[in-house]
Amino acid sequence: MTNPDEKIDVFSEARKIWTPPEEVRLRAWVSDYESVYQKAVADPEAFWSGIASELDWFQPWTQVLEWRYPWAKWFLGARCNITYNCLDRHVKTWRRNKVALLWVGEDGSSQVLTYGELHRQVCRFASGLKTLGIKKGDRVMIYMPRIPQQFVAMLAVARVGAIHSVVYSGFSALALRERIEDAEAKLVVTADVGFQRGKSIQLKAVVDEAVEGAPSVQHVVVVRRQSPPIEIFGPRERDWDALLKQSSAICEAESMDSEDPLYTLYTSGTTGRPKGVLHVHGGYMVGTYITTKWVFDLKDEDVYFCTADPGWVTGHSYIVYGPLLNGATILFAEGAPDYPDPGRWWKLIEQHGVTIFYTTPTAIRSLMRYGDEWPASHDLSSLRILGTVGEPINPEAWLWYHRVTGERCPIMDTWWQTETGMTMITPLPGVPLKPGSATRPFPGIVADVLDKDGKPMPPNKGGSLVIKTPWPSMLRTVYKDPDRYEQYWRSIPNVYTAGDVAYRDDDGYFWILGRSDDVLKVSGYRLGTAEVESAIVSHAAVAEAAAIGKPDPLKGEAIKVFVILKQGYTPGSELREEIKAHVRHTLGPIAVPSELEFTTSLPKTRSGKIMRRVLKAKELGLETGDTSTLEE
Ligand code: PRX
Repeated sequence: MTNPDEKIDVFSEARKIWTPPEEVRLRAWVSDYESVYQKAVADPEAFWSGIASELDWFQPWTQVLEWRYPWAKWFLGARCNITYNCLDRHVKTWRRNKVALLWVGEDGSSQVLTYGELHRQVCRFASGLKTLGIKKGDRVMIYMPRIPQQFVAMLAVARVGAIHSVVYSGFSALALRERIEDAEAKLVVTADVGFQRGKSIQLKAVVDEAVEGAPSVQHVVVVRRQSPPIEIFGPRERDWDALLKQSSAICEAESMDSEDPLYTLYTSGTTGRPKGVLHVHGGYMVGTYITTKWVFDLKDEDVYFCTADPGWVTGHSYIVYGPLLNGATILFAEGAPDYPDPGRWWKLIEQHGVTIFYTTPTAIRSLMRYGDEWPASHDLSSLRILGTVGEPINPEAWLWYHRVTGERCPIMDTWWQTETGMTMITPLPGVPLKPGSATRPFPGIVADVLDKDGKPMPPNKGGSLVIKTPWPSMLRTVYKDPDRYEQYWRSIPNVYTAGDVAYRDDDGYFWILGRSDDVLKVSGYRLGTAEVESAIVSHAAVAEAAAIGKPDPLKGEAIKVFVILKQGYTPGSELREEIKAHVRHTLGPIAVPSELEFTTSLPKTRSGKIMRRVLKAKELGLETGDTSTLEE
């Protein structure tokens, strides 16, 4: 946790600036950031409605924005369906036979889906959903590996007006059940297995455990990849292929109000309970459409490869929706970057002529460890734009990424969140870059760095990163928890507080330093310390636990937990492993702590709150700061 109160003095040392070649700027959709930004600030409603007009609407809006602090509505009165713009809009043009999806499985299998074929499959699955009783407003859980059916499932759910909630397939059965229960999901879509580093992960078994005793779930649809196929049991289970085969390929997109929900995505906050961040059809569509187009300078001839998983927001906005809204050709790959060898992604880039490549700092750092010979042994000359997301990128990793890809591609270091729906602070292809800085806000976005009383911080001083005005793809609420939504806009009055610490340098460039709350970023995955702690405390031997994030050269942050045992239990390596296994079972492999230390006391305030800040400072050998409220 980065503490904004301990005013971070940042040296305004002259940072290295890299200016992309002039032709990159000139060929980009936006070649003059300053003037586009200024125009958008001067009249944001005209700016956003101009962009929205590039898309198809069943009925136009009568008002662009209604802002009743802290509640926003965009494109009021308009009717649309995001999947119409992702599919139908393209199949009516020459793009009908353009490749939408180039999929490669970890086992070497592959599939190519044109826009026409993707449209057909989505319509069939949407018709199938209707026969299973799914209608507008129903919640559908998607727990799948990275296979084309994951795209189809998301789009089909949205097409019938239902709300999808994709759960990352690295979460455990208990974590999945908690989300199913919160969403009161009627249906779960899954697959028998996913493949990761040569192993098959039994996803269907996880779903079986999760839906046991989940009364809302009426059906489970299973994609069967293995042969011989696993058996489909019981009346509520359905086979994906059979359902598609018997369903109509004609299914018009449901006409949705622009403010109707599109999806919820559960993400970690500061409590033990994940929050269902809710996005809507209209504004989310406009935000993801234009950011994909401008940030990546997406053109029809591009081959776009984003390595994220649709289980996280990056996959929603920048694998599925944003690229499809732009009619892009998307490379979608299952598996890890270093399996069967660390050349996997470089090889895919060469094989498919990838032009735009979007990944994470953790992945870059891990590939960097394997050395230059892997990228050097592949022809990467097709690449023209690169991106990173999810956590701060250290300049060393930035420079390596830039160098091994030929030192000609600008790197879009995109800062955003599950809640923002779209990239918020990001370069555009032509702007001068500083390795490690997300640069400046996207046009239409007003960002600032404030102290906790809402006063602007001077340059080079750390504070809270905030967004000062509403934007179309902002979260509309937290599912079933409007108070939690309001907190984003009330912790500093009148602005959206992102929960990150940042500073701005003398050129107005933003540098994101990390979270200011109890949210961890482990390999870019977002986890709450409270979630990890509550998983640990649910072990029979544990009385109390405190989790902190420690800087890690590879993962960005690694989890360390301090554990107080109940009387009668003795610390030891066996118990340590047992508790770690318990976390794996309760939350999933991504939440397993790297370090677990047994202790007999924890630093607490007089009111009993654990002071993780003190633990972290001690762990890192830093000053503990103000400890006047410390009880023990
Ligand atoms: O701390 C910031 C970090 O990721 C958080 C949002 O996490 P999540 O909702 O899981 O979304 C991740 C993908 C958009 C932010 O609050 N973060 C994201 N991008 C960056 C970043 N930190 C620094 N630089 C970035 N480019």
